[in-house]
Amino acid sequence: MHQSNVKNRTIFCRDNLQVLQGINSSSIDLIYLDPPFNKKKIFSAPIGSSAEGADFRDWFRKEDVKDEWIQEIKEDYDGLYKFLNNVKELSSIVNTTRNKHYLYNYCYLCYMAIRLIEMRRILKDTGSIYLHCDNTMGHYLKILMDIIFGEKNFRNSIVWGYSHGGKGKRDFARKHDIILRFVKSNQFFFNGNAVGFERQTGKKSKGGRLGIDELGRPYQDKIVKKTKKVYRYYLDEGKIPEDYWTDINSLQAGDKERTGYPTQKPLALLERIIKASSHEEDIVLDAFCGCATTCIAAEKLKRQWIGIDVSVKAYELVKKRLKEEVANPNNLLQYNKEIVFSTDPPRRTDQNGDDALIKKYVYIISHPKYKGEYKVGIASDIQARLTSYQTSDPDRKYQIKYKKHTHLFRKIEKLIHEKYENKHEWIKGNLQDIINDIENYT
Ligand SMILES: C[S@@+](CC[C@H](N)C(=O)[O-])C[C@H]1O[C@@H](n2cnc3c(N)ncnc32)[C@H](O)[C@@H]1O
Repeated sequence: MHQSNVKNRTIFCRDNLQVLQGINSSSIDLIYLDPPFNKKKIFSAPIGSSAEGADFRDWFRKEDVKDEWIQEIKEDYDGLYKFLNNVKELSSIVNTTRNKHYLYNYCYLCYMAIRLIEMRRILKDTGSIYLHCDNTMGHYLKILMDIIFGEKNFRNSIVWGYSHGGKGKRDFARKHDIILRFVKSNQFFFNGNAVGFERQTGKKSKGGRLGIDELGRPYQDKIVKKTKKVYRYYLDEGKIPEDYWTDINSLQAGDKERTGYPTQKPLALLERIIKASSHEEDIVLDAFCGCATTCIAAEKLKRQWIGIDVSVKAYELVKKRLKEEVANPNNLLQYNKEIVFSTDPPRRTDQNGDDALIKKYVYIISHPKYKGEYKVGIASDIQARLTSYQTSDPDRKYQIKYKKHTHLFRKIEKLIHEKYENKHEWIKGNLQDIINDIENYT
């Protein structure tokens, strides 16, 4: 577990990828994200609302996916790379019209994958992540999360039912979102009692015998008729909600907390998530914070918070909402806590006092069978890389000829691309010349 390198109450207004990359590993307790859903449209705030001017594009094309992301995934996350490629191939099968949009899903998932990898890194071992999505990409995202966080760390697929949206005549009305809850490890924190409902007793309780135990705590015993097994529920603990939430409605036109920000989520939804998966003073991060609903809910519940959004509206709205909804609901107080605004990503302080730059190894590997041919690659874990070559070789003769730990690895890769043919494949040349090229470059 590392110290956080971001001040409490910070809003970053820029692409979240660079911000996430600059946050210390294992320093965040809870992440909620409500990213674009890949709806293939633009969401805009209505003119005249306090969020006027905020909008975001919800589609992803080839030009939104950087080669370096794919390269990083290919090098370090083999299973993920295969999955994304399968999606790419599948897109052309699923979309039989083969129109130019058929790579949307692939591009969206690449964009999400590279960010979710960082989110996993910055989460503490006790931490949880709630990914808000809907049926547009929910099933793909579940697989993506299974790969990145591990299937065993999947805890819930929460259905959030609401009343807004249309009612078509040809379908059952689409009235729910999905919230995927994953944890980083089995040490995760969960406090179901903090969000428990009062237990129904009397006629509404659907059976159950009431009583008081020897310590004076009221309880209700429910007996399974067939096995006669008794389940005891304490009334002061409440009932942990099921995984379908229909008691928190979406924001309606007249709701006080509504800012007009497109896709704004209700505070009650975030309050439930924060209460269940964090302690007071824990650090809550929202990587797509919009009008900062998570930050407001975290502040109300005495948690520390970090919000990130490309739109500068997030900063304006968090200040307005903190003043109106947290400090000053009765027009009595001024909100006077410092809110940090930053357009620069943070710098990591957990790399031996080093700075924010990510370092990886540039390596050259060879095999005695292929004389004069070398593979120049990049890896975070060079031993794991060598092992993966060895496993594909019955003679186990691959050798690392050269390695250099550097943050300039992308630039070196570019140089190799430009100078040698075959790009990522084996390149032909003199080993010392290739080493000199790399050394000269750094
Ligand atoms: C669905 S909205 C979030 C709404 C939020 N939950 C709320 O209650 O207001 C998605 C947000 O993600 C932001 N966004 C999209 N891509 C982003 C990126 N790469 N980095 C940071 N924010 C991004 C958009 O500006 C938008 O505000």
